[in-house]
Amino acid sequence: MGKEKIILTGDRPTGKLHIGHYVGSLKRRVELQNSGSFDKTFIFIADAQALTDNIDNPEKVRQNVIEVALDYLACGLDPEKSTIFIQSQIPELCELTFYYMDLVTVSRLQRNPTVKTEIQMRNFETSIPVGFFTYPISQAADITAFRATTVPVGEDQEPMIEQAREIVRRFNYIYGETLVEPEILLPDNAACLRLPGTDGKAKMSKSLGNCIYLAEEADEIQKKVMSMFTDPDHLRVQDPGKIEGNTVFTYLDAFCRPEHFERYLPDYPNLNELKAHYQRGGLGDVKVKRFLNSIMQEELEPIRNRRKEFEKDIPAIYEMLRKGCEVARAAAADTLSDVRKAMKINYFDDAELINEQVKRFNK
Ligand code: TRP
Repeated sequence: MGKEKIILTGDRPTGKLHIGHYVGSLKRRVELQNSGSFDKTFIFIADAQALTDNIDNPEKVRQNVIEVALDYLACGLDPEKSTIFIQSQIPELCELTFYYMDLVTVSRLQRNPTVKTEIQMRNFETSIPVGFFTYPISQAADITAFRATTVPVGEDQEPMIEQAREIVRRFNYIYGETLVEPEILLPDNAACLRLPGTDGKAKMSKSLGNCIYLAEEADEIQKKVMSMFTDPDHLRVQDPGKIEGNTVFTYLDAFCRPEHFERYLPDYPNLNELKAHYQRGGLGDVKVKRFLNSIMQEELEPIRNRRKEFEKDIPAIYEMLRKGCEVARAAAADTLSDVRKAMKINYFDDAELINEQVKRFNK
């Protein structure tokens, strides 16, 4: 025990998953799941966390739980190899969060850069829900309840993992070695760290309408690729073009593999040559976009088709999730029993306790 390698990660069900989720995290998860290097993999749908800023919109969260589950399966997460579950169905996570709250200060939470940005984006100003403000603590519970050693996430989640590590260290320092300190696993390709929206804006977001969804139909993908943001000063084909901040090239960095050139653009040996030509001038946006479109179509078609297959049996998806929750709950309950013992709140399963107290009061 304690030496097991365990993966845990999850997503908020606030919408269908898009290709930013895919390159930033989902694709890697599937590889990790299939790598055989981990003893267990837990993947969960963070509905309780989604509610922290959607408290008046439970229907949205409910609808998206099944969307995310379908996206998971479509990408190749396999319930035979990974435990897929729903956060709210594991009450042990609330209990753990409640204890962890005593290990974190308000000012530490206020310094969390991701939460800071999110608060600004949501215009909470002074009316920040306490649950939202403290979600990094609940995220530490998500991670530690399953004794996760490895958390594959995007870079925006770095502060959460750091906070979880601090909580673990403090807990273990006070109560003795109980919890496992997790490590973050970031995408290894820089373009995948934070894939921009199709409009070139920093992040894909549903409200900006700049996402390509995993379930997107072929003609929609094409439309979105062909209208992508490039270099606004690259007006004529013969003009030299810029690669930096050019979304089409960022996407190529994330998706393009050498064999794509053989298949769709044999005039160029590799991406560097394509970039060099664009920078020199003489290469038009349309040609590069067509190339990207071919790649995106090839990558997304099997995912879309698998999703359609899974959509044919929705009750089976709920059944898969129910079983996942059962397995997850047993794992979390096991950790909670260690935690209660370490915190000395295990009054009824400590055989020694009553004897000790008898002696103390009958001296
Ligand atoms: N905050 C993550 C997101 O927005 C979701 C999440 C919740 C998570 N708990 C987690 C991710 C624990 C990794 C580990 O995508």
